[in-house]
Amino acid sequence: MKIAVVGTGYVGLVTGTCFAETGNQVTCVDIDEKKVARLQQGEIPIYEPGLDVLFDRNIAEGRLNFTTSLVEGIQGAEVIFLALPTPPGEDGSADLKYILGVAKDLGPILSQYAVIIDKSTVPVGTAEKVREAIAAAAQVDFDVVSNPEFLREGVAVEDFMKPDRVVVGTQSEKAKKVMEKLYAPLVRQGNPVIFMDERSAEMTKYAANSFLALKITFMNEIANLCEKVGANVDDIRRGIGTDSRIGKRFLFAGIGYGGSCFPKDVQALAKTSIDYGYDFRTLTSVMAVNQDQKKRLIPLVESYFEGNLQGKTIAVWGLAFKPYTDDIREAPALENIKALLEAGATVTVYDPEAMDNVKRLLPDLTYCHTAYAALDDADALMIFTEWPQFRTPDFDKMGKLLKNKVVFDGRNLYELPTMKEQGFTYYSIGRETVES
Ligand code: UDX
Repeated sequence: MKIAVVGTGYVGLVTGTCFAETGNQVTCVDIDEKKVARLQQGEIPIYEPGLDVLFDRNIAEGRLNFTTSLVEGIQGAEVIFLALPTPPGEDGSADLKYILGVAKDLGPILSQYAVIIDKSTVPVGTAEKVREAIAAAAQVDFDVVSNPEFLREGVAVEDFMKPDRVVVGTQSEKAKKVMEKLYAPLVRQGNPVIFMDERSAEMTKYAANSFLALKITFMNEIANLCEKVGANVDDIRRGIGTDSRIGKRFLFAGIGYGGSCFPKDVQALAKTSIDYGYDFRTLTSVMAVNQDQKKRLIPLVESYFEGNLQGKTIAVWGLAFKPYTDDIREAPALENIKALLEAGATVTVYDPEAMDNVKRLLPDLTYCHTAYAALDDADALMIFTEWPQFRTPDFDKMGKLLKNKVVFDGRNLYELPTMKEQGFTYYSIGRETVES
């Protein structure tokens, strides 16, 4: 199949590269000339494990191309993906100017039937708006399909190539056939392609992300309560996760969810609810609780240092909103670092991938080449991302480098008995504090 992907952001690049890998001829279109020039030279602007191998191979084999010209990019394409940004406007609703702008441009240049696919997370009713924008100037038949993407950063290639399910919103039989053909190589193990109408497909994406954010937030509140009643959230997680109705995943309590999707999507669904006159109270709570959760450890740090962080050095392990990404959007680490700086502390940091991104925002932190270097002479350690290398550290070395053997862990990386044995004072989420 000949495919065009408009927008070479995170979703667009993964979509384009993966569909080239399944044997299609893919052209990715972006208005950013610098970015396209880099892509044409074989440079990937994002960090995503496993993407580079597929990217290099498909460029080398001529199945993956890049252009700044929409006309050239969609030439002969049976399928046109719109993978454009939908940034939140001031009121929290998704801003559709990029998507509708491209839709408007597409109308007059379509020269044959094509399926135009909304891949971005867009509010209910967007497919209709895209259809209208294209139809205003189109000379040929076309269909607009909603096909939300459920991939997670860090495992995006695997999620894309082996999706749990593919959701397709369309009522056109012709478009259905195209979508079945397109996804056939990815659902061979029997994972379903679920067809529905466009509005339901758009809503499915928001429902999925909001539900996951709710699941995490619920566990975070259970954890907060565990601290008060003297229970251990790890045990609760195991105790409830084995109930197949609840499931084991996304029950890890921590310092709050971040990233480019959950915060934005929960906010957008809340806004949609308001627009339709519905008071979606659980969503409002999820947002408020998550905001507080991100700052959960700060009062503990303050009280440990008796209310005075002036002149203290706090080491931070982990800046990315989760492991295997350099993405720092809505990352809990950032808010915490800002709070530490405001309180007069000096902050030394280490993250295997995200330091360059943070340097642009906060140039005055001390950026270290290794996790241990960040601990040298620091008064305490705070952990915000569960990178595997932090999970089994050399506790002796940590103890010698830190001025005080104290760890504030937002990701519950260590077992309580281990920390007791190692002589650390250890604060985590939803578990008893270990006092050395
Ligand atoms: C998410 C959805 O999972 C994906 O389907 C959608 O397409 C985009 O949004 P992503 O943002 O890449 O993906 O990250 P994810 O792995 O889902 O984690 C989101 C946040 O939740 C992270 O901040 C993570 O640390 C947090 N989280 C996740 C928890 O705090 N506890 C958990 O148990 C799971």
